[in-house]
Amino acid sequence: MPEKRPAIVLIGFMGAGKTTGARMVAGALRARMVDTDKRIEKHVGMTIPQYFGRHGEASFREVEEHITLEVLDRADGDVVSLGGGTLQSAKVREALRAHIVVLLQVSLPTAWRRAKRSSRPLAKDKGAFEARYHERQATYEAVADVILPEVDRQLLRPAIPVIQSVKEAKGAQLLWAHTDSGGYPVWLRPGLLRDLPPWPLPETSRRIAVTDENVAEHHAGRVPGLAGLIEFPAGEAHKTLATCEAVWGAMIQQGATRSDHVVAIGGGVVGDLAGFVAATFQRGLPVVQVPTTLVAQVDSAYGGKTGVDLPAAKNYVGAYHQPAAVMVDPDALETLPREELAAGYAEVVKTALIAGGALWEQVSSGAPVDPLTVMRCARTKLQVVADDERDGGRRQVLNLGHTIGHAIETVTDYRRYRHGEAVGLGLLAALRLSGQDALRDQVSGLLANAGLPTTMDAAVDVDEVHEATAKDKKRLGSAPVPFVVVREPGDVRFGQQLAAKDVRRAVAELAG
Ligand SMILES: NC(=O)c1ccc[n+]([C@@H]2O[C@H](COP(=O)([O-])OP(=O)(O)OC[C@H]3O[C@@H](n4cnc5c(N)ncnc54)[C@H](O)[C@@H]3O)[C@@H](O)[C@H]2O)c1
Repeated sequence: MPEKRPAIVLIGFMGAGKTTGARMVAGALRARMVDTDKRIEKHVGMTIPQYFGRHGEASFREVEEHITLEVLDRADGDVVSLGGGTLQSAKVREALRAHIVVLLQVSLPTAWRRAKRSSRPLAKDKGAFEARYHERQATYEAVADVILPEVDRQLLRPAIPVIQSVKEAKGAQLLWAHTDSGGYPVWLRPGLLRDLPPWPLPETSRRIAVTDENVAEHHAGRVPGLAGLIEFPAGEAHKTLATCEAVWGAMIQQGATRSDHVVAIGGGVVGDLAGFVAATFQRGLPVVQVPTTLVAQVDSAYGGKTGVDLPAAKNYVGAYHQPAAVMVDPDALETLPREELAAGYAEVVKTALIAGGALWEQVSSGAPVDPLTVMRCARTKLQVVADDERDGGRRQVLNLGHTIGHAIETVTDYRRYRHGEAVGLGLLAALRLSGQDALRDQVSGLLANAGLPTTMDAAVDVDEVHEATAKDKKRLGSAPVPFVVVREPGDVRFGQQLAAKDVRRAVAELAG
């Protein structure tokens, strides 16, 4: 008998849209769709709320486990929509290992809005609903082979062929990135570079690597099948148009054409510069991002912002150019110097403040950064970008701590502070400007523990930093630069106008 094909099993909290999602995937694949909740209702001869009312949750969970195991055992390429609480069963979690498990992300407000309209027995009390939501996230993340962002389920069609290939990725988790200009896979697993998942471009497209001298030494050789390798000197001071010109020249020398693609192997400097080179060379080649710093793995490799600095201001010239894929191997961080890991930690703290929930809990407890932290940060950034690719609104939250951070980098000629170090200082100023004094103290403690500065060097001029904030590229027309403020972890607001004297005071405080 031929082996049965794995099912695609959709999981997620109440209101995640599992039934709609399963219908869409099953339709696209011409596969059979099974909804475990419907199966249960048929089996018990009443609706789930009725069964809950008469027999209680424990009895319901027993029936649910029995039916789900039966569905998973019989499945042959089916698309299954799984009840929200089914994963509490260890037997179900074990049975899922043979299948492709796809987590549909849903935010708490959306989940509550949808669920409270329904007759779901577990959506009566908001507090209990919220507690359950947070409780279940870790289990969902642990069993999911694939995580999809919260967008209109029809927009996720391009992800289907990649989802089908997930078993070839030898245990790598697939996060699907959605933007208005297209979607792409983000593959994540310790050791990923030793055993790559399916490459997003055909073999006929040559891989031209762009990297810096440090990364070339440690990692460039680990990406197989490179047709060319272009190196430039490491560091922010080289994220310039002059370096782009050198790289464009090297690409011409290596005979690159539009049917080839760039592989950006390195930190945020390489990702930004190589991404910009790819966006502009012959009006655009695809780029695959292979991030090797913590900053890049938790933030800069996703979202398609590419560019370089001008002497006058940071990231002033650039283009949106979404990658064809991002390949994240947390093991690459093993060779990263301690100060660079610390610098990346500032972006982790920023992302955790934006995300709230499990990520903030993990980070604020002082736990060391691990592959789960990287995944949660990536998830957070991908959801923000899915909501707003081009900084028109929500994406601006990612700028938390960056307005003052960038200003500090600019006035110190990009040489005194690493990007992450400056962002850490910027975060402290942003928290003061948010009126979050206790949170500022907590974050200051976290940054200090990671070895990051919490005050500026005496040589940095407060007025120069203050003036440089006014030049931030988030400023539109003649309006003052808008700030991002934190109400609480998980509730971050963009577009806030603040009094110049308050901004100056928050910068002056950093001077100690
Ligand atoms: N595009 C975005 O959305 C975005 C977001 C955040 C930051 N950024 C940009 O990212 C840049 C900062 O990135 P970064 O902190 O990764 O700096 P970086 O790229 O300069 O890397 C830091 C240092 O680590 C070295 N390095 C990289 N990987 C290594 C490894 N695995 N082992 C040993 N050494 C390694 C590099 O050669 C460099 O010397 C800034 O220019 C910032 O503007 C962009």
